[in-house]
Amino acid sequence: MIAETDVRPQQLILPLFVADGIAEPRPITSMPGVVQHTLDTLRKACVAAADAGLAGVMLFGIPEHKDALGSGALDDRGVLNVALRAARAEVGDACLVMSDVCLDEFTDHGHCGVLRSDGVVDNDATVEIYAEMAALHAAAGAHVVAPSGMMDGQVAAIRAALDAAGAQDVAIMAYGAKYASAFYGPFREAVASSLQGDRKTYQQDPANVREALREVALDVAEGADIVMVKPALGYLDVLRAVREAVSIPVAAYNVSGEYAMVEAAAERGWINREAAIAETLISIRRAGADMILTYWAHEWAVGQR
Ligand code: PBG
Repeated sequence: MIAETDVRPQQLILPLFVADGIAEPRPITSMPGVVQHTLDTLRKACVAAADAGLAGVMLFGIPEHKDALGSGALDDRGVLNVALRAARAEVGDACLVMSDVCLDEFTDHGHCGVLRSDGVVDNDATVEIYAEMAALHAAAGAHVVAPSGMMDGQVAAIRAALDAAGAQDVAIMAYGAKYASAFYGPFREAVASSLQGDRKTYQQDPANVREALREVALDVAEGADIVMVKPALGYLDVLRAVREAVSIPVAAYNVSGEYAMVEAAAERGWINREAAIAETLISIRRAGADMILTYWAHEWAVGQR
């Protein structure tokens, strides 16, 4: 009766991985219970997400072949575009189909963009690719595109490309405040990324919160419909500050490392798994997230019934 915060299925988004060239779903060792899906099992997972009343699914594609330019991302018959078509065909408008707009799943060097000759990510060339990618995702059926690469100007370029393609109704969930974090570790296994170096030239310094507010303000000005803070747990203060600074919906990403820590400790009997999951999700909501991307989304929604 007096609880100030709740976590409802329609506030949760389930990230799903789909890989090219696998016959069976492939477990992700560092994320117990999470797999790389085949197209077939992805379809089933999307239907299950919709049936559980989730807000949406966020799709990440893992191509069989990666290259320096991440060319698979612009292939209309590539893994992510095929998966988006399949997902949308399964769920229609019963839950939102969202797509990761980023190159790290597609590049052989694992960076979120293409590289200049000196090895640094080329912001502007990358933004052009994101814009094209987003238009392909929209054409494949995405309701929401989610640029996660933290390139400057990505939201404006994507909005323009979507509008030019007649996809005015497709929304942009912008990773506004995304930190260069160790907590993405298991995700690298999930998308088979062999990152060389780090992402500090484009992701944020964990020491900064005012910088996050500047980044978010730029995204809002460029046309973001939703802004995200990521990771969640170590950044609840950032989440609160962003919630107070903007009037558009705010999302938080409860990332792979946050998931893995709870699962690993629970596996050893060091922590009460269900209680830790509940506390995690409630804290993120309490800090100000309207919606949460979490690998526990389906389990939580089913458990609430
Ligand atoms: C980039 C992207 C990443 C995650 C979501 N989108 C990886 C990164 O920026 O290094 C991480 C999600 C997680 O750790 O659960 N495409």
